[in-house]
Amino acid sequence: MDYGWIEIAVAAIFVSVVITLVLSRGAGWLSWRFWRNAMVVSSVVMFAVLLWLSFDSAAQTRPGGERIAPWTVINHEIGLKWNPEKRWQEPVIGQETGFFGKVYSPDEAYQLVRLGKLTLQSRNCMECHTFLGNGAYYAPDLTRAWLDPWWEERIMPMVGAESHEEAMKTWLQNPPQYPQGKRRMPNLHLSDEEATALVAFLKWMSAIDTNGFPAHFGDYK
Ligand code: HEC
Repeated sequence: MDYGWIEIAVAAIFVSVVITLVLSRGAGWLSWRFWRNAMVVSSVVMFAVLLWLSFDSAAQTRPGGERIAPWTVINHEIGLKWNPEKRWQEPVIGQETGFFGKVYSPDEAYQLVRLGKLTLQSRNCMECHTFLGNGAYYAPDLTRAWLDPWWEERIMPMVGAESHEEAMKTWLQNPPQYPQGKRRMPNLHLSDEEATALVAFLKWMSAIDTNGFPAHFGDYK
């Protein structure tokens, strides 16, 4: 849906006025009947608009919808591209490369991302981090963590990993083992499966179209 709020508001007012005028034929605009009709009609029209917008938002925010990548995005390359019209960075989904050397089916991908979400809840990552802006401000926002060039530039050679996902997984399993800044991330004792699933969750999340949040992330223009 590509209508802005102005178009929707103007259309709703126009429709309300027309229906009110039709229902109030013969009644003067100062009459009680005209204003009662105007009130009932505008309430009904706005209720219909609200219902329509709710369904539209639900469709856009469903995985596989307009804004949220399907679970299988974990099999693909993900990047960010500057959209000069909107003036923010949009995720671009590239070719299929697999995830840890395997192409996940929609159901397997769903199960893995789901386990990742349960794992981050079990370790309360939001006690320190934010996801999509929600959480605490002790540590960096993780919405686009997967796209941080840090993984390939520094962590891959440091941990001796062969791939981006392996670098992230190895690091997540024992952050204190590697040099950190002033604020530190503890070892959260993630099992192999949990760490793989967390990487899948973070990768999937990085492909969500967030209207450019967080602003000025990285240098992907
Ligand atoms: C006690 C606070 C704390 C908790 C809990 C925590 N982290 Fe962190 N995390 C940090 C800090 C601090 C850093 C930054 C380390 C640095 O700058 O060297 C960090 C960095 C990271 C990074 C690197 C971000 C980047 O791109 O630079 C990732 C990814 C990450 N954490 C994931 C997680 C996940 C997933 C969880 C939950 C399983 C978690 N963290 C729980 C404190 C925490």
